[in-house]
Amino acid sequence: MSKEAPAPRENMGAPVPRFDARLKVTGGATYPADIPVADLAYGVLVTSLVARGSLAQLHTDKAATVPGFLGLFRHGDMAGTQPPKFGVAASSIGPLHGDRIFHDGQIIALVVAETYEAAMEAASLVTAEYDEERPSAGFDTQGTETTPGAGASPLFGEDVHAGDFDAAYAAAPVKIDEHYSTPTQHHNPIELFSTTAAWRGDQLTIYEPTQNVTGWKTELSRQLGIDPNRVRVISPYVGGAFGSKGPMTARTAIVAVAARRLGRPVRCVVTRMQAYGTQTYRAETRHRVRIGAERGGHITAFGHEGWEVTSRPDAYVVGGTIATGRLYAYGSVATHVDLVHADRNTPGYMRSPPETPYVYALENAMDEMAVALAMDPIEFRRVNEPTREPIGGKPFSSRSLLACYDEASKAFGWSDRESAVGSMRDGDWMIGMGCATAVYPTNIAPCAARVQLMADGHARVQCGCHEIGTGIRTVAGQMAAERLGVELTKVSVEMGDSALPPAPVSGGSNSTASVCSAVMKACDAIRNRLFLAVSGEGAPLAGAANSGMSLGNGQVIAADGRTVTLADAFATLQTVLIEEYAEFTPKGASPQALKKLYAGQPEFRGGERDDAVKYAFGAELVEVRIHTLTREIRIPRIVGAFAAGRIMNPRTARSQLMGGMIWGIGSALQEETEVDPRNARYVNKDLQDYLVPVNADIGDVQVILVPETDPQVNPAGVKGLGELGNVGTPAAVASAVYHATGIRVRDLPIRLDNLL
Ligand code: MOS
Repeated sequence: MSKEAPAPRENMGAPVPRFDARLKVTGGATYPADIPVADLAYGVLVTSLVARGSLAQLHTDKAATVPGFLGLFRHGDMAGTQPPKFGVAASSIGPLHGDRIFHDGQIIALVVAETYEAAMEAASLVTAEYDEERPSAGFDTQGTETTPGAGASPLFGEDVHAGDFDAAYAAAPVKIDEHYSTPTQHHNPIELFSTTAAWRGDQLTIYEPTQNVTGWKTELSRQLGIDPNRVRVISPYVGGAFGSKGPMTARTAIVAVAARRLGRPVRCVVTRMQAYGTQTYRAETRHRVRIGAERGGHITAFGHEGWEVTSRPDAYVVGGTIATGRLYAYGSVATHVDLVHADRNTPGYMRSPPETPYVYALENAMDEMAVALAMDPIEFRRVNEPTREPIGGKPFSSRSLLACYDEASKAFGWSDRESAVGSMRDGDWMIGMGCATAVYPTNIAPCAARVQLMADGHARVQCGCHEIGTGIRTVAGQMAAERLGVELTKVSVEMGDSALPPAPVSGGSNSTASVCSAVMKACDAIRNRLFLAVSGEGAPLAGAANSGMSLGNGQVIAADGRTVTLADAFATLQTVLIEEYAEFTPKGASPQALKKLYAGQPEFRGGERDDAVKYAFGAELVEVRIHTLTREIRIPRIVGAFAAGRIMNPRTARSQLMGGMIWGIGSALQEETEVDPRNARYVNKDLQDYLVPVNADIGDVQVILVPETDPQVNPAGVKGLGELGNVGTPAAVASAVYHATGIRVRDLPIRLDNLL
């Protein structure tokens, strides 16, 4: 694996290292639970040991005897506050608002003490009695209810249809009808979940890792019944987000109430085990996929039904048929998504929430169809490349999928693949080569940013978005440096604070597009002010046309070659600092879009919502080796080629895509939360038993950035790619496993016992 950052190709920025790269590996980055707060008390959660019923008794006498014990907050102690609202909040379950138990691991108390150790000891001495009822763990358990998924959550609008699927499928000469499934997966960020709440009078500051400072400020103030301007949420660095720190969980308000009651700041760090029940997760899904095609390979019918697990009260649903229904030239499409309500905590976002499970099912089915048609799987996709998406008949703003397959195939050596199943071998190892498509919608939302340019060439960018490890701080700085013609080292970027100009939730891979568009708008306003000033009568560049002017090397440059230094340009304005505050709204945004942004409820556009379908694409090719005797599965190499509009920084883009493919290998071969069907409890709640890849599991990972220019998506020309890399991987692995062994695994993860 080359350690070098890829050289920029057409429409790509410089591969500069992240501002925070060194800080992060030297311990210099301050995560929310590291921020020093005076007079801190420590909170530890007590969680339910049953999944369904009600809390009958909570025995707290022993806990109160622990030296340093300060208080215990329980059912009833949230009186005067509002329960969470599902949406910005992860769940409508307000665990201390009633005695009802909705799921295993639900918060039943918060113990606060002088030290973390005392709080842990006191919490361990709290015991509970429950009126227990028999829970349902998920699919195939008694007592679950099913509701239609359509319209139930922000991710999923409606089931998509096109043409007469039933007739086309019935008439198709070649067809498959198969079921696929993906397991429960839990977030295990290296930075644990935590909340620190500090009141100063009636002013509340929350330090917590989050992908949504503005949304949380608004939702928390609603729950607490206080003015949003009295709440500030601070989250300078986030150590592993991927959706897990997008929605606000019930703990935040509980810790805030405890801190107010005790008159002291309280910090609560959630243990890894407790995170399984108190945070969100990717719920298990099931799929039925039907594909019908002509003998030449043209698809005439595509049917995709999905089933997802959620909690009793919340209709969280991902509904990835929105993407799968638009991926190829199908002829006809029929889809439907249902929700199964069980006694589980409410699921939530995890890297490409809809696409990961649904595209896995589609792409595994595409591979099965290619086998049924005796076609090369890449050729099968080529034959079904659409000119317009099949649901609304809209054009794609740009679509470089075939270019991605071309570049990936060449780098991988796909032409060396022998098509017959089980025909490739190296000693005791069976070799398989497989492929799959990655796809992710280009989302964009309104965003505000403040930019300052100083006469000495320093610039400052402020935006209430979040550095969740993607490098957004760096690319926003690059955008400012480029537009203002100053060196990147002279640009400082502030993020992760609800006191800054509001940005949307850092989810749906919208941040680079939204934030860079806002930063660009603010920079352009600064440029215009400077250009006007220096071109006026008697000014240094008098008479120069503003349209031909540029900024570079700390100078304003006229089209005719005349220049003036920034210092002299600022002097004409009699100022040393120019500041601009920009509010960016995407094309097609509603008149309320900005109001909603400030209220923490930003509207998303892009994807399939506009007059053109805006998606990023990729092709992933993988080689697996399976030992003939042990059936051990290894992945010596994977190649992914991706096209995502303008690439702001090839280094950070590559990191995102590489990390995505590695995660994809983990979800293909390892990741699964075991749910005990008898008691609806999670079993493997730690990193010892919840399997993720380690270095030794990962071979060569090659990322190819395919040049693509798409002026239609947004002013910055950027498509998001943070959630693109992991989408195709599991199906590519399943395809390669089949090619090596002839065994088709349809239920993830693929482990050696599936291949015996
Ligand atoms: Mo991402 S799962 O949209 O934070």
